[in-house]
Amino acid sequence: MRTTGSVTRVNSWNEWDPLRHVILGRADGCRIPPPEPAFRCRVSPGTEMEAGWGARPPETVAMANEELDGFARVLESLGVRVDRPSPLDFAKPVVTPDFETGSMMGCMPPRDVLVTVGNEILEATMSYRCRWFEYLAYRPLLEQYFREDPRMRWEAAPKPRLSDRSFKVDYFSKYATLKDRLPRVEAKDFLTTEVEPLFDAAELARMGKDIVVQHGFGANLAGIDWLRRHFPELRIHAMNFPADPHPMHIDCTLVPLRPGLVLANPARPMLPEQRLLFEKNGWQIVEAARPAHKSPPPLSYSSVWLSMNVLVVDPKTVCVEASETHQAEQLDRLGFEVIPVPFRKACPFGGGLHCATVDVYREGALEDYFPNQVA
Ligand code: NVA
Repeated sequence: MRTTGSVTRVNSWNEWDPLRHVILGRADGCRIPPPEPAFRCRVSPGTEMEAGWGARPPETVAMANEELDGFARVLESLGVRVDRPSPLDFAKPVVTPDFETGSMMGCMPPRDVLVTVGNEILEATMSYRCRWFEYLAYRPLLEQYFREDPRMRWEAAPKPRLSDRSFKVDYFSKYATLKDRLPRVEAKDFLTTEVEPLFDAAELARMGKDIVVQHGFGANLAGIDWLRRHFPELRIHAMNFPADPHPMHIDCTLVPLRPGLVLANPARPMLPEQRLLFEKNGWQIVEAARPAHKSPPPLSYSSVWLSMNVLVVDPKTVCVEASETHQAEQLDRLGFEVIPVPFRKACPFGGGLHCATVDVYREGALEDYFPNQVA
């Protein structure tokens, strides 16, 4: 067992260096949010999610928390310090001068809200109205890190207006079927407009000097441009995955595992020009194993591809959802020690093991893993 360091230090440049400190979400008070533009893509028409917004059944909250606490114990046994957010009263409506929606969502998953890049923790703009104030659940931790680590940079991207001007409000009614949607997604015609920068933190896949950001429903080009200007010393690559009719949050689509190895979703193939970045730098692109389940758990926002939403603890160790045996076997063959973590009951609250965490500290420094850039 490694020892847990008590000194707070913010540092994380990639998705694989040895992990020493994370924030892990909580299910307390989580709600199914009311309909709104950004959420429509995560809720299938005619499902119970669409019908019933409001409190989640209490027994599901308790079961999710049990799994989240179990995951915390696994991480702690690996020497990782685990901090937890402070839930708010998520039943409160969200009201700004520009919009009003009936409730918040919760404080799971933190990966959508915060991203650590080097010694900086950045609060994302977010693209959901119900998640506009979610950063507040993390503020006690961020205030503490800011006090304890004199080198920490604490940044917040401009809070978006999220008025009806930020969305193509008739997008989902116009392109309701896959047949209508896929050509739009292929043409990079997504849900959001470009009137203001928008990005969820979970659209970023960090690989040292290079960060891939998914251009889709959770990040627009203005948001990607904002990130480029905010991190001028890094190379920000916009990528889109045309076979995904709900392109939101990159960590079920493209998952860097260690230097030279990236897991790719075979149902959402990368475009040849996007593969080039990896190919020109000797990276292996491995198609993820098939998910163990035919459908996501009830009241879920995510697809079955949560199978590949793994948390890399260090370049030789990876946490995988316990029932995802195909994914576990594949990672074992790729040379990882696989740690199975039961998480299927927590998944409906906003995703898998990667979604549920935010790196605060990984060992290691900024490195260039892609010296051969694509023109
Ligand atoms: N859009 C993703 C969710 C990522 C956590 C999926 O469901 O595949």
